[in-house]
Amino acid sequence: LRTALIGYGNVAKAFARLLFDKRSVYPFRIVGIHQRRGTAYDDHGLGLEPQFGEPAGSLNEFLERAQPDVVIELTNLNPDSGQPAISHIRAAFARGIHVITANKGPIAHAYAALCREARRAQVEFRFESTVMDGAPVFNQFRNNLPGVNVFGFTGVLNSTSKIVVAAMQRGLTMEDGIREAQAIGIAEADAFYDIDGWDSAAKTAALANVLMDAGTTPQQVMRSGLRDLTTEQAVEYARAGQSILLVSRAMRSEDGSLKLQVRPEVVPQTDLLATVAGSSNLLLFHTGLMGNYRHGFYSPGSGANSLRNIQRSGRYC
Ligand SMILES: NC(=O)c1ccc[n+]([C@@H]2O[C@H](COP(=O)([O-])OP(=O)(O)OC[C@H]3O[C@@H](n4cnc5c(N)ncnc54)[C@H](OP(=O)(O)O)[C@@H]3O)[C@@H](O)[C@H]2O)c1
Repeated sequence: LRTALIGYGNVAKAFARLLFDKRSVYPFRIVGIHQRRGTAYDDHGLGLEPQFGEPAGSLNEFLERAQPDVVIELTNLNPDSGQPAISHIRAAFARGIHVITANKGPIAHAYAALCREARRAQVEFRFESTVMDGAPVFNQFRNNLPGVNVFGFTGVLNSTSKIVVAAMQRGLTMEDGIREAQAIGIAEADAFYDIDGWDSAAKTAALANVLMDAGTTPQQVMRSGLRDLTTEQAVEYARAGQSILLVSRAMRSEDGSLKLQVRPEVVPQTDLLATVAGSSNLLLFHTGLMGNYRHGFYSPGSGANSLRNIQRSGRYC
């Protein structure tokens, strides 16, 4: 398959490495990579350290020259609008190209419309890695629990804020914690998207759009973040045996209304939500299965895991 990457940052580079390692199993060939600072093409397949030339004048120019069968959209999250990733995806659909993305912006802002457009264009649109990296949170319902109603969910979905709070609970500053998260490649380009809860709000909206038919956006999620947390407070919580976590919650009421929320919550260190250490994430679903069954995912670590799932990326449309 002729594969084109839009964006060549942490995730795209690790994905390219994965494709290279598995080249005998998966017949993908990266024929083009486009980022703002430059574009690279090779019909025979680009290496892991491609030589970038001048950036293509437009995404259409890039797609026209690369002629991919599948586009992998891996640009930065824009929680305000999901752009320009939404336009990138539409440009690919318009040319009959399949799209995979790990960028949650398009799912949080335009999931239903993009699915309709993919169906019309008769192409696949896959996005499993947008929430919780390698855990098959979307595929589990599609493949294993069809017909099960999701009434809500509770999750600790942002790894950067966990690393930052853990650093602050050890007496370091917020900036020290952000540097730690950046060093392991998990922070958003603007780490305050993580700290202020925008990344969690985008994931909450994406989950609600796909699994609860919410038709929502990150702006409609009630959101508060951790920007005001001080090292003194964080250390005090630690001394009292407590953790502070950015928790995502979705709750469908009896009257059908849906409440979506992201906020810091102080919980005992023994609470299930707090027991997932480091950059790990936890997501618990409240469903109608067998009465009021709850089940979920624990995703140890973050970042590199996302790559495993791109290859079996969620197919909800
Ligand atoms: N890091 C993780 O652990 C993780 C896990 C799951 C999902 N994600 C998601 O995956 C996506 C990529 O994350 P990342 O960590 O790889 O980001 P990153 O390291 O910041 O890389 C982003 C890439 O996108 C390019 N880019 C930005 N705007 C562009 C535009 N308008 N046109 C073309 N290229 C553009 C950037 O290059 P230029 O600046 O040169 O344009 C860069 O190559 C994000 O949406 C993120 O939320 C990340």
